[in-house]
Amino acid sequence: MKFLLISGSKARKEVSKHLISEAKKYFSTVLSIPLDGIRVECVGGENKLFFKNTDLTKFDACYARLFSEDFLFGECVLDILESSGVYLPTSSEAFQIVNHKYYTVQTLCKSKLPVPTTSLSVSPQPTTKISRTVGYPLVVKLLSGFGGRGVMLVQEEQDLVPLLDTMQVFKEFVATQEFIDKGDDIRCYVIGDNVYPVKRIAKKGEWRANVSRGARAILIRIPDEIKEIALKAAKIMGMDISSVDFIKSSKGWLILEINFSPGLMPKFFGKKFAEIIMKHIFNRTKEIKLLP
Ligand SMILES: Nc1ncnc2c1ncn2[C@@H]1O[C@H](COP(=O)(O)OP(=O)(O)O)[C@@H](O)[C@H]1O
Ligand SMILES: [Mg+2]
Repeated sequence: MKFLLISGSKARKEVSKHLISEAKKYFSTVLSIPLDGIRVECVGGENKLFFKNTDLTKFDACYARLFSEDFLFGECVLDILESSGVYLPTSSEAFQIVNHKYYTVQTLCKSKLPVPTTSLSVSPQPTTKISRTVGYPLVVKLLSGFGGRGVMLVQEEQDLVPLLDTMQVFKEFVATQEFIDKGDDIRCYVIGDNVYPVKRIAKKGEWRANVSRGARAILIRIPDEIKEIALKAAKIMGMDISSVDFIKSSKGWLILEINFSPGLMPKFFGKKFAEIIMKHIFNRTKEIKLLP
């Protein structure tokens, strides 16, 4: 069987290397390519996808490590792979939803999954009004932010207005969210039907617990009912591989976001998650391809 790894603009080389070395244990052909080397063609009423002379629709499985910057082109590529019968552990629809921080919250809310109080508006005035309901401090998020970048803490209304004015100049949309003070940050890697919870501990003097911002990570145990919530959230999004990020507040566990290409934290876990992911992709592909 043939496996394809597509790496988007922010894909870490170390993680790709781990995934490839694991993939070679299972697949007879393994190809690793950057998203920007792909060519999409519509020829004779048929959508095709090429890397140099290789037809990518002929692969059995593909894991696309794409990020918000890869939007639009990434979506076209995923859509063609999906409709060509290539097994994708993460659907193109999921890519659209989770790249938009508010759309994610909205989708989870529709399914009655727990999320912090969050709002979206496209101009400063309604946002200021919303902030009075949610109270301060308040979290402001760029819709397409990642790695803790684009997540800001606003202490009072007089700081909010200039920030929103600035965002408008840059034509950026923001979501506002209640601040969960001293909330434990728990990432659940959801791989197939299994959940692997990891606690992220922000570095001193930092409130964002992103590993890329210096946080540490340790494996922990969590109650089964929270694992069920993580599995349900991943399923709703159409993702076989994802991370569902929670913040544990005094009001209970709330989902902060779902990641399409979660960082696999090699600094803390080595190849562990690359191993589990590739094993899952292989077993699932076998199941799909060998079924009559
Ligand atoms: N509402 C919130 N209350 C408290 N901390 C938050 C809140 N939202 C985000 N954070 C902190 O900021 C980090 C980054 O926010 P997140 O929404 O996950 O964006 P990103 O995509 O940049 O990781 C989270 O992991 C968490 O530590
Ligand atoms: Mg996050």
